[in-house]
Amino acid sequence: MSTLQQEVGKRRTFAIISHPDAGKTTITEKVLLFGQALQKAGTVKGRGGSGQHAKSDWMEMEKERGISVTTSVMQFPYNDRLVNLLDTPGHEDFSEDTYRTLTAVDSCLMVIDAAKGVEDRTRKLMEVTRLRDTPIVTFMNKLDRDIRDPMEVMDEVESELNMMCAPITWPIGCGKEFKGVYHLHRDETILYQSGQGHTIQDLNVIKGLDNPELDQAIGDDLAEQLREELELVVGASNEFDLELFLQGELTPVYFGTALGNFGVDHMLDGLTEWAPAPQPRATDVRVVEASDEKFSGFVFKIQANMDPKHRDRIAFMRICSGKYSKGMKMRHVRIGKDVSISDAVTFMAGDRSHAEEAFPGDIIGLHNHGTIQIGDTFSQGEALKFTGIPNFAPEMFRRIRLKDPLKQKQLLKGLVQLSEEGAVQVFRPIDRNDLIVGAVGVLQFEVVVARLRTEYKVEAVYEPISVATARWVTCDDERKLDEFRRKAGVNLALDGGDSLTYIAPTMVNLNLTMERYPDIEFHKTREH
Ligand code: G4P
Repeated sequence: MSTLQQEVGKRRTFAIISHPDAGKTTITEKVLLFGQALQKAGTVKGRGGSGQHAKSDWMEMEKERGISVTTSVMQFPYNDRLVNLLDTPGHEDFSEDTYRTLTAVDSCLMVIDAAKGVEDRTRKLMEVTRLRDTPIVTFMNKLDRDIRDPMEVMDEVESELNMMCAPITWPIGCGKEFKGVYHLHRDETILYQSGQGHTIQDLNVIKGLDNPELDQAIGDDLAEQLREELELVVGASNEFDLELFLQGELTPVYFGTALGNFGVDHMLDGLTEWAPAPQPRATDVRVVEASDEKFSGFVFKIQANMDPKHRDRIAFMRICSGKYSKGMKMRHVRIGKDVSISDAVTFMAGDRSHAEEAFPGDIIGLHNHGTIQIGDTFSQGEALKFTGIPNFAPEMFRRIRLKDPLKQKQLLKGLVQLSEEGAVQVFRPIDRNDLIVGAVGVLQFEVVVARLRTEYKVEAVYEPISVATARWVTCDDERKLDEFRRKAGVNLALDGGDSLTYIAPTMVNLNLTMERYPDIEFHKTREH
């Protein structure tokens, strides 16, 4: 096996999907604790009032709110693998970047608050993972609290997310009575000790379900109940099947408490063993295998002002094949230029350091002076373009207006550039002089106004506008498209890349329009 193949085989690149407050930040802390990236868990995010800010906090807005605006990337070793965890902005900082990050990973961890079950944001994010049939590992969190019937929550995952569940561990009690989990594959019970959340615990393990030690440890009644329950569970649920998991049709399910740092290691064991190594990626000309010798990668995110002192922009690139080494030449395919990259950065839990080399599945940061756009491909000379890094239809809209009307040109330029970075999307209605800004998360609106002020010297304000959603429209028949353009013109606009977009005032309007024009295709995503 070549070094490249070995490096590819070692890597696991994943992201966490969850609803706000389900425990993503806490689980990230524990995962890093296991990865020994942090000495002691608890420094990922500065929580309200604690005064301690995470290493990755860099922007003023971020400091004020104690949230992480960046999608930082964390690399750490676990077992004999090298794990890349891509953080997905989740609270007010939820944005299109969250969606796009999910197109740059090979698997996802879904964290569910077991007291609440499947929530809204999780549903949305799962929809995005469906675009690539990304394999999903599930962690049912907060077992130290009273939760819903675990069987019921798994049923909810199956029916609402359309994915089979295969429990790998099974909880013994919950809340104050939480005793631990039984590991179905290892045939052992791992006992929970409360109050040990900040350390890696010495495990108290009882081998075998019929072991009398189990009765001693958790009591006769609970032990008997567990045995009966497990018979039911095994009968009623699916067995783990690697193929189905890799196709995104079945998820292994783990139970635990992130706060108590219990069960996170079981999940990581499963994830690092079963989740796929860097996968082949489609381009417009061929499928690129991770083990292809020639380097290639694509940009899925651009981050402005990573370092407030340097006002630079960093383009986050997912490496798809070959090896990056410091100083190498890469072809920036869209503009057809060869560039020498000597200062790419890697990300270690918020710290930026210079990468000497990096492999498929890794994320590197390129310094960007405005030439790099979301979706750009870099290669070693070959003219190819990775597909599947789309724009997502915004979910919130505002009309943007200038305080000084003479600066319309600067405003448009700023908005188009910010839309190329993926910060926001801009729409220009075809029949009037108006500018509509669309975003996936509300914080983006503030970010855009702040950046327009500092980087483009324009003062802009928002006005409310009644828009429910946007869809990119295409049609194979030019004549029908023209007719649509004439008849539905009031609701049509061009986006930052001049693609035709239907701006729907209401969902009802959208549905009616789709019915009325069956030959027109309405898309929720747009490829760059
Ligand atoms: P998020 O990133 O998904 O939004 O969730 P986060 O980890 O910030 O967790 C949200 C809240 O849930 C936090 O409480 C956190 O401590 C708590 N939490 C996470 N995992 C568990 C768990 O296993 N058990 C219990 N009981 N709670 C858990 P908070 O009060 O909002 O923050 P904090 O002030 O306690 O840090």
